[in-house]
Amino acid sequence: MEHFEQDLVEALRDVVKAGSWQCVGEAAKFKAPCTKLYSEDGEHIVLVRTEDGRFWAMDSSCPHEGGPLDQGDIEDLGDGKLALICPWHYFDFSLETGSSSTGLQNQVYDVRIVDGKLYINTQSSLSLYPVPVTKKATRDALLPTETKLDSSENTLCFWARKILCTPDPLEKVALTKKVQSWWDTGEITEIGECAPPAQPSRIDSLTVVEPGKIKRGKGGTQASRIALLHSLANIEQWAIDLSWDIIARFSTVKLSSGDSLPREFFSDFVKVAGDEAKHYELLEQRIKELGTSFGALPVHNGLWQSAAETSHDLLARLAIVHMVHEARGLDVHPQTLSRFAAQGDTSSVKILEVIYADEITHVAAGLRWFTYICSKEERDCLATFHDLVKLHFKGYLKPPFNIEGRKTAGMTEEWYVPLVKPAS
Ligand code: FES
Ligand SMILES: [Fe+2]
Ligand SMILES: [Fe+2]
Repeated sequence: MEHFEQDLVEALRDVVKAGSWQCVGEAAKFKAPCTKLYSEDGEHIVLVRTEDGRFWAMDSSCPHEGGPLDQGDIEDLGDGKLALICPWHYFDFSLETGSSSTGLQNQVYDVRIVDGKLYINTQSSLSLYPVPVTKKATRDALLPTETKLDSSENTLCFWARKILCTPDPLEKVALTKKVQSWWDTGEITEIGECAPPAQPSRIDSLTVVEPGKIKRGKGGTQASRIALLHSLANIEQWAIDLSWDIIARFSTVKLSSGDSLPREFFSDFVKVAGDEAKHYELLEQRIKELGTSFGALPVHNGLWQSAAETSHDLLARLAIVHMVHEARGLDVHPQTLSRFAAQGDTSSVKILEVIYADEITHVAAGLRWFTYICSKEERDCLATFHDLVKLHFKGYLKPPFNIEGRKTAGMTEEWYVPLVKPAS
């Protein structure tokens, strides 16, 4: 028996040598349930230790919308099958296979313990602490120029700033609709300039927590549907602000020809703002019909982090917020829709369909202005997009992609397939 164990350890050592296994230290130091392991390529891993002492590993960024799986809960889905539940929208991911009952798939990694040390089968080197990233400055960033604080009241930027500083979401919606109609009817014609706030205002009663600190409510299908609608309403509120922020922050950008951005750029984002306001209103109304209200649950402001990260460069902003995040919304739409459809919630399904049709036009707008600016600046659109995403977006883009939806928006596969993790 002793020999057998000895042979086994030797055999395992050979496996470790032959494969691309990363040793992360003594197995005993990893406590249940989750430990985040940082990778230098940004694709961090969550190491799960179950109560019975077994270990599992998968990507820590949720394939749905990037929720932190390392802050999720472990649940038994029946017949002993354990799953990690994402804290953002409660999608389940099997510890064994990474598959989810929603149809999404997360990447899992083999874990072995040899001589008390824990190994994970991945090409990436892993660390218990965040790996410092040294960022190269972007070439020719399209910087907003210095702006005056006191702009005249009858400009688009004056109102954009006012809406960003309006904390009440329904007032934000009402003002957005008004400004949209003033712009459309020519009551406002000037774009103007202003310094937008570093972060939009939120009502005091809204509990804003760190992304990942939102815990699952008590079971029940209605409760989980409300939680999902509530998180979508939160995203729409940020989306209203993101539309006004791109208008206000980049209103003074000059292309290298010396030209300003065309009026159509502003008209497109006023339209996007109006759509997002409509989406918020529809969701808020639906949450009310289900017996609660927006603000009843805590929210996170993860989306604003991408805005802050790209506040220095219009192309980076268009790439990350309007082409990566908005397109991800198209990817997850089928799974979200099927969750509501499976529970016979046709009212919510109708709302999600309205939102989906509009969101396709938002991705198209992002793409239109990204390619417009690149061509004016004589930059290769695809190469610039890929560089900016690698620089400002953590990790890789994750399939499954909504190929049809993206194509309808004009985003063909050469835009996003090169940003998927290469097979190891
Ligand atoms: S981000 Fe994980 S379930 Fe939505
Ligand atoms: Fe929206
Ligand atoms: Fe949108």
